[in-house]
Amino acid sequence: MSGQAAKIDGKALSKELLREVKGRSAACVEKGVIPCLAVVLVGEDPASAIYVRNKGRRAAECGIETRDHRLPATTTTEQLLSLLAELNADPTVDGILVQLPLPEAVDSEAILLAIDPRKDVDGFHPDNLGLLMLGKPRFVACTPQGCMRLLESAGVELSGKRALVVGRSTIVGKPMAQLLLQANATVTIAHSRTLDLPGLVAQSEVVVAAVGRPNFIRGEWIRPGAVIIDVGINRLENGKLAGDVDHAGALSRASAITPVPGGVGPMTIACLLSNCVDAAERRAAGAAS
Ligand code: GUN
Repeated sequence: MSGQAAKIDGKALSKELLREVKGRSAACVEKGVIPCLAVVLVGEDPASAIYVRNKGRRAAECGIETRDHRLPATTTTEQLLSLLAELNADPTVDGILVQLPLPEAVDSEAILLAIDPRKDVDGFHPDNLGLLMLGKPRFVACTPQGCMRLLESAGVELSGKRALVVGRSTIVGKPMAQLLLQANATVTIAHSRTLDLPGLVAQSEVVVAAVGRPNFIRGEWIRPGAVIIDVGINRLENGKLAGDVDHAGALSRASAITPVPGGVGPMTIACLLSNCVDAAERRAAGAAS
């Protein structure tokens, strides 16, 4: 196949999802439940501060209340655990998000484990990762969930296809591979030790790139007609953003591709708010889980 790959428009799809979340949020409010997301930001990482600000803005647009807890970089694991105990016990908090990365001195694993799994809207708690692996997901991590919604919106049939996930993080790569597997794709996970990445890319009908290195996947590796989901958001020296995939090179080979920015990024926040309103709906229904 040659020509120009179709754009998979994450900005437009996220708007649609946010509209739906807003409607569901209003329905909760009618039942006396105001969906509420507690956001914990530790330290001064500028990128994290921007993410948190954007989450707050989008939440407000959807009628979801956010409660910000901004703590100094010197915050200890114990102090954070005590804040999480409060948020877990607060029946008016539906979702808890601890922005990552946490400062080096904080025990991130202990922190993620301390979030009530029923409020873990990021889907990072071992209970939620385990439920996903069992094919009975409660909260699905937002970026992989957003990628699946993008593939669905593009009408991509995954059953039987070879899907390559490049990157094995707990936040993106591993849950992404599980979701593709549940959609009956034949899944390969590539990572920094993988031999012959170009050969694997060349065999794959679907590629999800989540490595965090600009233009790492070369256009000429791509199988003609493949669908490309680019999770990377890399800031170049010239100030521009680039994905993990050589977008210009991919355009003439792929059948469809997500842009950066405007692809996966906006979907991540929309999925977070969708997870949050899921939790609020459970509260409104008086359900225990
Ligand atoms: N840091 C980078 N991505 C994420 C995310 O999806 N959730 C949280 N909590 N922190 C992040």
